[in-house]
Amino acid sequence: MVTPKKRSRMRIGFIGAGTVATALAIHLHSKGYPITSVASRSFASAKALSDAVPGCTATMDQEEVLKEASIIFLTVPDDAIRDTANNLEWGAQHMVAHCSGSLGLDVLDGPRRLAAQIGVLHPFQTFSSSANAGENFSGSTFAVEAGEPFLGILKGFITDFGGVAVDLSDKNHALYHLSGVIASNYLVTLVNIAIELWKTSGLTEEEALPAVLPLMRNTLANLEANGIPQSLTGPISRGDIDTVEKHLAKLQETRPDLLPLYGQLGLDTVRISTKKNQATEESLNKIRTILKKSIVEER
Ligand SMILES: NC(=O)c1ccc[n+]([C@@H]2O[C@H](COP(=O)([O-])OP(=O)(O)OC[C@H]3O[C@@H](n4cnc5c(N)ncnc54)[C@H](OP(=O)(O)O)[C@@H]3O)[C@@H](O)[C@H]2O)c1
Repeated sequence: MVTPKKRSRMRIGFIGAGTVATALAIHLHSKGYPITSVASRSFASAKALSDAVPGCTATMDQEEVLKEASIIFLTVPDDAIRDTANNLEWGAQHMVAHCSGSLGLDVLDGPRRLAAQIGVLHPFQTFSSSANAGENFSGSTFAVEAGEPFLGILKGFITDFGGVAVDLSDKNHALYHLSGVIASNYLVTLVNIAIELWKTSGLTEEEALPAVLPLMRNTLANLEANGIPQSLTGPISRGDIDTVEKHLAKLQETRPDLLPLYGQLGLDTVRISTKKNQATEESLNKIRTILKKSIVEER
């Protein structure tokens, strides 16, 4: 636990004033950490962040952030992290972290060579706008990677947010990040597909999201209460071969592009169903065979 005195001595700055920077700055400030300065590509973004955080100054000069702060977050888009880091005059007084889940410490080699301590602090969360960014910090998982003492400081931030820290050292960043992409980004894509199929059935678009969202909420609540495999329902878990055949035939007619997706997700659903023990092994084996065919064959 970081003491209030220690918190008030840390001077934190941001380069890149987007959604994640705003969330972090507001939260850190609310926990008693001084946010000294922020620079961004546009002054408007830096100013918007500094207006939201008392005591923080907006600047267009990134070196100014390094002069004012000792802990600096590089909250620029992933592709800009390495170049931004390489263009600054770091020193042993600095600790610098990026917030990307897919990148490792190597993109901060530049600051490391100039004796700065380097780290990663990645919120395993989605922020779609600065307005509500960070409302969901509490209870969220944050991945961290750094050497001591920076690691302890980053973990202290997470404790203060009410978050859960996981250590990304020696872990595969791409696979860790992919897990989040499937859970969040592809969830949006799956909902979009569900809405398209709903419309193809003849129902209206207006009816779609209000119908789909309660179904999803209940599924998430079941997952939270009962986990996998008990939350799985539906034709595959029941071993309804005819229904799966019907789906495949209708997809072939209306959306053949979705056959590989239906087939692959179906195969993974069969794997879960075998653990749930609701359907017979024989029916699951038959479903597995027709799903495999839907992936490899042009039906
Ligand atoms: N959004 C999420 O859900 C999420 C979740 C976890 C982690 N992250 C990570 O957090 C980091 C920031 O993402 P974000 O979603 O906050 O991005 P964002 O909202 O797009 O913000 C990026 C900010 O960086 C500024 N910028 C872009 N290029 C720059 C440069 N060369 N120099 C200085 N500033 C520059 C932009 O400037 P202007 O506005 O001034 O033009 C913008 O304010 C990324 O590493 C991302 O992977 C994001």
